[in-house]
Amino acid sequence: MKSKVIIGLLLFVCTSFLFIAASKKEADPFKPTYIKLEIPKGWPKPAKDIFASNPLTEEGFQLGKKLFYDGRLSKDGNFACASCHQQFAAFATYDHDFSHGFNNSFTSRNAPALFNLAWMPLLHWDGGINHIEVQPLAPLTAHNEMAENIDSVLKKLRKDTAYPKMFKAAFGTTVINSQRMLKALAQFTGSIISSNSKYDKVQRGEAKFTPAEEKGYAFFKTNCAGCHAEPLFTDNSFRNNGLDLNPTINDIGRMKITSDKKDSLKFKVPSLRNVAVTFPYMHDGRFNSIGQVLDHYTKGININQPTLDTALKKRIAISNTQKNELMYFLYTLTDTVLTKSPRYAPQ
Ligand code: HEC
Ligand code: HEC
Repeated sequence: MKSKVIIGLLLFVCTSFLFIAASKKEADPFKPTYIKLEIPKGWPKPAKDIFASNPLTEEGFQLGKKLFYDGRLSKDGNFACASCHQQFAAFATYDHDFSHGFNNSFTSRNAPALFNLAWMPLLHWDGGINHIEVQPLAPLTAHNEMAENIDSVLKKLRKDTAYPKMFKAAFGTTVINSQRMLKALAQFTGSIISSNSKYDKVQRGEAKFTPAEEKGYAFFKTNCAGCHAEPLFTDNSFRNNGLDLNPTINDIGRMKITSDKKDSLKFKVPSLRNVAVTFPYMHDGRFNSIGQVLDHYTKGININQPTLDTALKKRIAISNTQKNELMYFLYTLTDTVLTKSPRYAPQ
């Protein structure tokens, strides 16, 4: 009887130990906070899910944000992603045609604004990059941008006190590798959304256009929306809008990628959301103001280019009054939630 009790007790003790051991293992489970890409009301779903193999989590987003603002991703520590992609300029480079990179060099294209990238099938002005997860390899390693190599960046991150913990929170272990770094960056840049401009509020019935803005909107829908399509203000296609070849950079655009003559001088149609704060304009930043852009569409288009878009063959007649109204409309596309939100700002 006594021995039965002792065996029973022993069994009890053993199983409790096992139980405690098992729950101790589970006391530290990988439980990130999953978040959803918020699709604004009335918008189409992104054509492909850029987070299909990179589940979006709060921890991944925060890690990506820290990396985006970290100068150590560049060779000399001075060129974080954010040095060229500035939040107050909707993540374009404020007031620069080309952006400063490593060793007093410059980029050869104007830095695009970064938002609503989840809806963008191909990245860069020529569409040369087909996935947001590989995109950062381009600036990280370009001699005129961050001029670094991945191994050296990873070494710097591993030495840091905060990163191993943040990688663990985002991916389950403290391992810091390039795949995880790229996934985290994609979680940050890919979930930056711009959907809170006056235009959006009007669409949601929360605000009203002034009569001038309304007229500008009507003009826009007839003359511009064929390429700068709502609600993203781009149809993500590559087109030639009649700019003369810039002889200093000789950029032939999409043809660089496809080697197809039909693609000569075609560039990705940029979104016009936040256009008031993303100057200068075009792939080479050749225009400093929206007024100059409109002058291009009325009288600057080079109509002798074989690849010029058919919609622009006759240029676009815009009177002075229409020009003002169109500008008023374009100003309604500025989203101060995007440009000021602490969610996207460094901690
Ligand atoms: C020295 C300035 C510079 C730095 C630093 C830089 N970028 Fe860029 N970025 C650019 C330019 C210029 C382009 C356009 C490249 C092209 O079209 O060929 C671009 C394009 C992009 C695009 C594509 C946007 C689109 O609309 O196609 C993304 C995304 C992006 N950068 C993210 C990043 C990230 C993430 C980092 C940091 C790892 C970074 N950039 C660092 C200048 C920079
Ligand atoms: C046929 C297609 C097409 C039409 C129509 C069109 N655009 Fe564009 N737009 C483009 C392309 C392509 C670019 C980029 C060209 C480049 O950088 O080489 C562009 C660039 C711009 C830019 C510069 C944006 C930036 O961030 O650099 C503005 C502003 C602009 N367009 C406004 C307008 C307005 C306003 C209208 C109507 C009056 C209009 N566009 C009509 C195709 C078009």
